[in-house]
Amino acid sequence: MQQPTTQLFDLVLTNARIVSMISGDDGYQVSQATEIGIKDGRIAAIGELNSSAANVFDCQNKLVTPGFIDCHTHVIYAGNRANEFEMRLKGIPYQEIAQQGGGILSTVKATRQASQEQLVELALPRLDGLLRSGVTSLEVKSGYGLSLADELKMLRAAKALEDHRKIRISPTLLAAHALPPEFAGRADDYIRLVCQEIIPCVAEEKLATSVDVFCESIGFNLQQTERVFEAAVAHGLRVKGHTEQLSNLGGSALTARYNGLSADHIEYLDTTGVEALAKSGTVATLLPGAFYFLKETQLPPIELLRKHQVPMAIATDLNPGTSPFADLTMMMNMGCTLFGLTPEETLRGVTCHAAKALGYAESRGQIQPGFDADLAIWDVSHPADFSYQQGVDRLSARLVNGEFDHV
Ligand code: NIG
Ligand code: FE
Repeated sequence: MQQPTTQLFDLVLTNARIVSMISGDDGYQVSQATEIGIKDGRIAAIGELNSSAANVFDCQNKLVTPGFIDCHTHVIYAGNRANEFEMRLKGIPYQEIAQQGGGILSTVKATRQASQEQLVELALPRLDGLLRSGVTSLEVKSGYGLSLADELKMLRAAKALEDHRKIRISPTLLAAHALPPEFAGRADDYIRLVCQEIIPCVAEEKLATSVDVFCESIGFNLQQTERVFEAAVAHGLRVKGHTEQLSNLGGSALTARYNGLSADHIEYLDTTGVEALAKSGTVATLLPGAFYFLKETQLPPIELLRKHQVPMAIATDLNPGTSPFADLTMMMNMGCTLFGLTPEETLRGVTCHAAKALGYAESRGQIQPGFDADLAIWDVSHPADFSYQQGVDRLSARLVNGEFDHV
């Protein structure tokens, strides 16, 4: 037998039953047991490789998927809002709690008081929950600081998670999340601060790759959202929107006009909005955890999104107020039971489509040569299982950048 003279791979996974999530019908099919060669953190080859490698790992016929991607989280925060949950159970609506100074602003108060190191420590147990659901890439938003110093502190804490766990973080600036109390009645002045000081500083220090706005009656209006988007694009940052969550302001179409990465929540999205997303290639990110936790009844327009072939992502929206769930596969289950998605759609929602929502459509979320070697190895026989059973231990290992993190 021919002996290779050079070592082609750093690592070879053998007996891997691959669910590649490449586009087209094949992506959701489980392959015969095969091999994945990894070199320099990338997938270098797939098939019978007959090659030497410094390391060989036998997957024992387990399922190998792209590492899951949670493309919308607020995992960095301090404080706890269990009391507001109790208030809502007594019938006080989320908007009313927010107007009384609770809601986002109560988390702002606690987050401002915390140090960057404390924010990291507080986030790690939540992050560990996500890692157990196979997550290898995570978007993390600021938005509980609402001042230059506190937004920077949140973004630095987000990035620092990479020093504590094997994970890739995509930080998003969400300074336009709520009006800070010191700007009460002066929303336009706050937006000026966001556009003229916070965005330039974040761009200069490369602390975020995108900018998000809560475009809503209890957030910021369409004009204010557009000012933030203009500033973001002028500083080379991509945009995203919390749009059409509680009403239809046209925020998703605006996000699309600015070539946005994703429009998120979108329960109230209408045909015009869906068409705008389709035209710009903006991902529709569905957040069933927030829908469920707020006991919303307005369903996102899934049929319309399918008809217009808008890529749909699914994310946790992990946050203390509206979605306190550090479990991405649970969101896949809710995507099916609450929104009527298929298990294949939910799996695309946490792999290839979530990658697109973060600007990594060409390098993450699929198993194919050239893509990042971010993988999850599962003790699962069929990929529908991710949307089906919950709470079971089925993750064997995650690989991030070709490096193992055994469970
Ligand atoms: O995505 N919609 C706005 N922001 C969060 C809620 C944050 C909070 O209540 O703390 C969301 O649902
Ligand atoms: Fe959110």
